Amino acid sequence: MMEVECPQLLVAQAAARRGGEILTHYYHQGVTMRSKSASDLVSDADIEAEQAIAAVIRESFPDDEVLGEESHRGDSAAARLWIVDPLDGTTNFAHHIPHFAVSIAYYESGKPQCGVIYNPLRGDWYTAEKGQGAWWNGERASVGAQRSLSDSLVGVGFYYDRGALMEATLAAIRDLFGQQIHGIRRFGTASLDLCQVGVGMFGAFFEYVLSPWDFAAGRLFVEEAGGTVTNCLGEPLPLSRTSVLASNGHLHQAVQSIVSAHYQKSGKHASQS
Ligand code: IPD
Ligand code: CA
Ligand code: CA
Repeated sequence: MMEVECPQLLVAQAAARRGGEILTHYYHQGVTMRSKSASDLVSDADIEAEQAIAAVIRESFPDDEVLGEESHRGDSAAARLWIVDPLDGTTNFAHHIPHFAVSIAYYESGKPQCGVIYNPLRGDWYTAEKGQGAWWNGERASVGAQRSLSDSLVGVGFYYDRGALMEATLAAIRDLFGQQIHGIRRFGTASLDLCQVGVGMFGAFFEYVLSPWDFAAGRLFVEEAGGTVTNCLGEPLPLSRTSVLASNGHLHQAVQSIVSAHYQKSGKHASQS
């Protein structure tokens, strides 16, 4: 059974539960979506959930910094930092697709300590603690054993870009199909995509641009489940906007050689490594 060593994990879970209540309420009641940019949506649900999550964190840790997607600008190098995506999967939420999550991670000096990803509609909890492991609804999680792409399902995400990065993503998918993968999935919630690598459903997942709040908790989940997470060039993941490649470890090199080639060809890798 899961034993919690990191006190911040209990607070992260309480905060995620509160955020999840707000999302569930708006999901059932309906909410007006607004555009941040071309296809990047936001609503009162995102904003209220982030405020409520930050309030729960600050009750216990008033001096810690909070970096949240909507309205908290904590310094990613802070000694004690909470990284919050109050609603990951906003486009699903807007189209009434029941696949979205709250993602909360706690970092010390740029290093992940613990994290939680919570899908409130399914009541699914994914938690991880540095050096202690990863759990899915309280049961130990571990990555899949697939050794070949021809045994694997691969998850992918598309950044809100309809140009070179979208073309590079499509070209990489074509090459992955050339390796006889079982299929591609684009579920639209990066934090849950990472969890799906951590529980062995996906052999690998990649996306050419993600923000810290999208991957901060999920990357720890994958690592603690025995997997590997780097950027798409195979370099260590920074705590800033970056490409992300996560895998069960065995498939990392094979997927990396495909996704890095198309990333480099796009010419976007130099500005967003
Ligand atoms: C998005 C989702 C999506 C990913 C996008 C993210 P949001 O987050 O995680 O799966 O493809 O790149 O921005 O906007 O729903 O919080
Ligand atoms: Ca997100
Ligand atoms: Ca979001």
